[in-house]
Amino acid sequence: MKVQEIYNLAINKGIEADFRGKEGVEKLLKRRKEKYEKLSEKEKEEFDLESFKNPYLDSRVYHIAEDREIKRVLVGIDIEPAEILMAKEISGIDLVIAHHPIGRGLAHLADVMDLQCDVLNFYGVPINIAEGLMKERIDEVARGVNRLNHQRTVDAAKLLGQNLINSHTPCDNLAAKYLKDLIEKENPERIGDLMDLLKKIPEYREAVKIGAGPKIFVGSEENRCGKISLAEITGGTEPSPKIYEKIAQAGIGTIIGMHMGEESRKEAETSNLNIVIAGHMSSDSLGMNLFLDELEKKGIEIIPCSGLIRIKRA
Ligand SMILES: [Fe+2]
Repeated sequence: MKVQEIYNLAINKGIEADFRGKEGVEKLLKRRKEKYEKLSEKEKEEFDLESFKNPYLDSRVYHIAEDREIKRVLVGIDIEPAEILMAKEISGIDLVIAHHPIGRGLAHLADVMDLQCDVLNFYGVPINIAEGLMKERIDEVARGVNRLNHQRTVDAAKLLGQNLINSHTPCDNLAAKYLKDLIEKENPERIGDLMDLLKKIPEYREAVKIGAGPKIFVGSEENRCGKISLAEITGGTEPSPKIYEKIAQAGIGTIIGMHMGEESRKEAETSNLNIVIAGHMSSDSLGMNLFLDELEKKGIEIIPCSGLIRIKRA
């Protein structure tokens, strides 16, 4: 496989696992195109044309130094210039794959957060409330990433002649779908049962060994789960703290997330929600692994780095 084929595979896998379904994603892409048609020539020049075919603008091809057949990849959760240098030191690395966005993908992180409106709606939060509260948060995230040094890692890849891509939301979608299917199948009654279930997943089991396993942020093992939401596993980053009251009103009892800030935790506590934080690197690893298994099937060798807990399933 070549770089673009690997990237396309990630996007397609992400669409397959998307909460909105294939039709929902196609509708979104069509809407973007219609919006583009209405723009002035000047606005069209600045428009990101990739958004017509890619629903996940936080996932990109950053640099193709040499468009060769890919046999060996270095994959990490966060890729910085240090990892690009590492790729040079380890012999025969054809491509570096990051999970978290860099470069243009990082600048567009807020663009994928729309997905959360649909996911929250899927869990019963009225769409107007989800959109209202998310809009505020999306703008905040967009301003937050604005100040960053987006191109730092991309520049390193260009200088050292390294192929570089990332897959963020597509892989988070895979993790969310995996957890959703497992929870629907096992239907844990109490938070303790849910914790036991999560700890059976090898990525979380490994994380437990280094003290980064699943944690109960709000609630106790004895609490009943009620309806479990996976709205926070995918969709860019954390939502607005104001959403928790609405999620509770929508009939959700427990939220499984990757990470959660203190303000959100307090809001969730006030709303009597149970919060289980599965773990950040481990949850990101789960989603990446489900994609990387596909690459291994094609004969590509995976070398994990930068927090990736590599577990092979297939
Ligand atoms: Fe992450």
